[in-house]
Amino acid sequence: MTDRWIHHVALLLCFFTTALSINYEQLQLQQSSSTSACQELLRQLDQELCLNDRLDFKIPVAVKHPQQMEKSYTAFAIQEMLRNIFLLFKNDFSSTGWNETIIESLLGELSVQTRFLEKILKEKQEKEKPAWGTAPTTSRLKSYYRRVQKFLENKRYSRCAWMVVRAEISRNFSMIQGLTKNFQS
Ligand SMILES: *[C@@H]1O[C@H](CO)[C@@H](O)[C@H](O)[C@H]1NC(C)=O
Ligand SMILES: *[C@@H]1O[C@H](CO)[C@@H](O)[C@H](O)[C@H]1NC(C)=O
Repeated sequence: MTDRWIHHVALLLCFFTTALSINYEQLQLQQSSSTSACQELLRQLDQELCLNDRLDFKIPVAVKHPQQMEKSYTAFAIQEMLRNIFLLFKNDFSSTGWNETIIESLLGELSVQTRFLEKILKEKQEKEKPAWGTAPTTSRLKSYYRRVQKFLENKRYSRCAWMVVRAEISRNFSMIQGLTKNFQS
């Protein structure tokens, strides 16, 4: 954990001392290693197939076709996803028997990375955030996570509902990993 922190801070300093323009190569490395860490943490949680509880949460189309997204917007979209995943895992998961230390680490990783993205996007955001904030993809992403949240609520945070959500979010991280390739070139 400490090593990761130092790594984050070092990268942050790099971002601030270089220009205000975003270094997408570094962003890709950073995002990619953070995503792997989250995926690894999710893998450590108990899993179970709960076929009766499956639900199609329906993904925003643009996110499925990352090559159509601008780099800065991709970073913004990832930030939006991480923020929402963080909020999901703040819900009551006591029915699952999941190890709290693992969830704490996951929340820690998510919040560090979200703040990291917020910081590097801040400059750009001032000008472009209004556009990002109202972009159709952003609102679809938000309603996607609202559907996941509602699902958990409706199922009263049951073990099976959480198993479904864990699997869904785990696939989301693969998607985020795919999106980071967008920072290349
Ligand atoms: C999360 O993963 C599911 C399953 O692959 C996918 O359908 C959904 O689009 C993903 N959502 C996001 C926001 O990436
Ligand atoms: C929870 O996970 C942590 C870190 O992986 C581990 O050290 C600890 O022993 C686990 N606790 C339980 C109750 O399994």
